[in-house]
Amino acid sequence: MLHTKFSKEMENIQGKVVAITGASSGIGEAIAHHLSAMGAKVVLGARRVDKLKSIVESIASGGGQAVYQKLDVTNTEEVVAFANFAVQQFGTLDVMVNNAGLMPLSMINSYKIEEWHRMIDVNIKGVLHGIAAALPIFEAKDSGQFVNITSVGDRWVGPTSTVYSATKFAVRAISEGLRQEVSGNIRVTLVAPGATESELAESISDPDLKKLAIEKFRTDLLPASAIARAVGYAISQPTDIDVNEIVVRPTAQKSF
Ligand SMILES: NC(=O)c1ccc[n+]([C@@H]2O[C@H](COP(=O)([O-])OP(=O)(O)OC[C@H]3O[C@@H](n4cnc5c(N)ncnc54)[C@H](OP(=O)(O)O)[C@@H]3O)[C@@H](O)[C@H]2O)c1
Repeated sequence: MLHTKFSKEMENIQGKVVAITGASSGIGEAIAHHLSAMGAKVVLGARRVDKLKSIVESIASGGGQAVYQKLDVTNTEEVVAFANFAVQQFGTLDVMVNNAGLMPLSMINSYKIEEWHRMIDVNIKGVLHGIAAALPIFEAKDSGQFVNITSVGDRWVGPTSTVYSATKFAVRAISEGLRQEVSGNIRVTLVAPGATESELAESISDPDLKKLAIEKFRTDLLPASAIARAVGYAISQPTDIDVNEIVVRPTAQKSF
C-alpha cells in the first residue's frame, strides 16, 4: 500500500521539466538532486557555472537528466532565456522554482544600502523575473507550477532581519496574488524554510553578526534535502491539488 503511494508520487514527478534558480549550492542544489532522482529533468541556473557543471555531472553520473545555464536573476532577459533554454533542451517547462536569494543581515542604522538593494533585486525582482519568464509558457499550455522559496522570515521579523524579511514578506504576497490571478490549471506553491544548511550566512558582511548568526541562530540546522523533499511533495500532488504553503523548521527552532 505504502509502496503504491510512493510510486504514484514518483510517477507525478517523472518526466517533469523543472527549472531551478540558485541551483549552485544549498537548497537549490538539493532540489536538483532530489527531483532528478525522482525522475524529473532539471535545468539549473546560477552565476557560478563551475559549481553548476559539477552538480550536473554528478546527476548525470547517477543516471539523471540535468542541464545548466549561467543565470543572474536580476537580469530580466537572462531569466527569460533560462526558461526558454529549458523548453529548447527538454521540449517544455513544467515547474519554475524561484529559489535564488541572499541574506546579508544588518541593523537598519548600519545603512548597508547596497545590500538592501541587492536583496530587493535578487529576492524580490528575481522572483518576479522568474514569473514573467515562465508564466507565458504555462499559460500557452494551461498548466505549470511555480515553487517560490521564501523563509520563515516571510511571516516573522526581528532585529537585523528587517530588509531580508521584507523581501520574503513581499514574495509571500506575490505568491498569493499570483495564485488568485492565474488560470485554473496553474499552481503556486510557497515553501518557507527555517534554518537550513547552506552557504546563506556567507552573505552577512558584518563579521560579528555573521559569527553570532552562525553560533546562536544557525544551529540545529535542517539538511537542505528536507526542503527538497517538501518541494517534491508539492510537485508530486495530482494536478487538481495545489499545495499553497509549506513551512519547514528544525524541531529545535522555537523562537522564530
Ligand atoms: N538556508 C536557510 O537557512 C534558509 C532559510 C530560509 C530561506 N532560505 C532561502 O533559500 C533560498 C536558497 O538559499 P540557500 O540557503 O540555499 O543559500 P545558498 O547556499 O547561499 O544559495 C543561494 C543560491 O542563490 C544563488 N544566487 C544568489 N544571487 C543570485 C543571482 N543574482 N542570480 C542567480 N542566482 C543567484 C547562488 O548562486 P550563485 O552565487 O552561483 O549565483 C546560490 O545558488 C534563498 O532564497 C534563501 O533566502 C534559506
